[in-house]
Amino acid sequence: MNVTFLSTPSTAVEADALLLLHFEADGRPAIASFEVADQATAGWLSELESSGEAKGKIFDLPVLHRPAGFAAKRLVALGAGPAATFTPAVLRKITGAAVRALKTKGVTSVALFLDHPHAEAALATAAVEGAVLGNFEVDVHKSKSKASDLASFSLVSPADLAVAVAHGETIAKAQNFTRDLVNEPGNLLPPLALAARAQKMAAEFGLDCEILDEDRMRQLGMGSLLCVSQGSAEPPAMIILRYAPPTPSKDHLCLIGKGVTFDTGGVSIKPAEGMEKMKYDMAGGAAVLGAMQAIAQLKPAVAVTAIVPTVENMCGSRSVRPGDIVTSLSGKTIEVLNTDAEGRLILVDAIEYARRLGVTHMVDAATLTGAIVVALGHVHVGAFTNNDEMLWKVMASAKTQGENMWHMPLDDDYADYLKTPFADLPNIGGRWGGAITAAYFLKEWTGGTPWVHLDIAGTAWLEETKPFLAKGPTGVCVRTFIDLALNWR
Ligand code: BES
Ligand code: MN
Ligand code: ZN
Repeated sequence: MNVTFLSTPSTAVEADALLLLHFEADGRPAIASFEVADQATAGWLSELESSGEAKGKIFDLPVLHRPAGFAAKRLVALGAGPAATFTPAVLRKITGAAVRALKTKGVTSVALFLDHPHAEAALATAAVEGAVLGNFEVDVHKSKSKASDLASFSLVSPADLAVAVAHGETIAKAQNFTRDLVNEPGNLLPPLALAARAQKMAAEFGLDCEILDEDRMRQLGMGSLLCVSQGSAEPPAMIILRYAPPTPSKDHLCLIGKGVTFDTGGVSIKPAEGMEKMKYDMAGGAAVLGAMQAIAQLKPAVAVTAIVPTVENMCGSRSVRPGDIVTSLSGKTIEVLNTDAEGRLILVDAIEYARRLGVTHMVDAATLTGAIVVALGHVHVGAFTNNDEMLWKVMASAKTQGENMWHMPLDDDYADYLKTPFADLPNIGGRWGGAITAAYFLKEWTGGTPWVHLDIAGTAWLEETKPFLAKGPTGVCVRTFIDLALNWR
């Protein structure tokens, strides 16, 4: 999809559909732009309201064909809800919904007019994001794609919003890169293929890329990660991407993402029903790679390193067994009580590796536990930390980006849940607080380095299509990570 900024008058914009924001009004006319648009359309907006056809309710999409005085083929009075509660998050959603609805009707070019008082950078960025994210489809492997594709989206405004538009395009295309990776099935994107995609992206956008192979990881002593991959014919990898800011920074942020390209559960095998979804068990790793694609272009002031440990978790004659004891890179020993708790096993070796690189702050994203879905449903990401100050930085970024996150506890009292007489730690706790014991296990490797863990098992995959998003991979955390790096202080 081609994204452009236009400063042409709205009447001169050539597009299949031109979107005008239509606010829900108490005490209309509160918004000057309503008057302007109403006059330009010979009273179409007031007619919509007086007839009760459309009153600016969110997601409303009434269409006027061949509008007199406009170059566009259609005008759409895009319902924006009450002006008082209008935010970038609202605009992202309604623009996405408009794109999704219109492209099924043969519309291939859409423009959105942002007039004062809404001609603002944050709104322009969000609108472009909504359009690019809304255009995403999951049918790439159908021999004939069924879903239509929007050819172009333009943002039209009297204010100069060209930079904000380009920004939104960079961010949303990075998020769609993540969603494309997550959408790939296990056979088409095993660990080495994921590493190759990361390498290609890094070369394209000018990031330094290093891939640790199985031999190197064995030399280093990553026994925890390697016990997961040993059951698969697909070799593991550790993907490392580095972004260096124009001038060296005091802090060094590390993004870590779980990259299990398929999770059968191993010997502690998962039930057949729904197992196909475990291709999305690399969504955390993909989010980190997507964020790095945008970071390479937007060039924040802080150094950012990405680490994606990637493996396939299979069951076979070489698989790790329940009861096996392995030694992690840090030297801590682990009793593998359940081979399906594999994410934490690969992450702790990545965390120790990050610490050896000398990073000052770490944040990880992982589809780590079914328990976080029980706790928070598909609405919030679970956020855990060993450092409240860092947590609130991440939460603030998530808030501005419209990504829901909820602070979960991680007190030392939970240490009692992770005890075994046979090794330093077992890889699972008991029946209760499964998302917390998983996070607590990770925390044991973080030492004093400020760290935030984001459990995205419930939020990385959308079970039902939304008006503004296709069903499937969401790309959650990509925008939060980009914002975190850009606003790092
Ligand atoms: N990848 C799963 C977690 C998951 C569950 C992701 C549902 C997405 C949707 C993870 O590796 C796993 O299997 N966790 C186990 C841990 C248990 C064995 C302690 C779980 O949550 O059941
Ligand atoms: Mn598992
Ligand atoms: Zn898993």
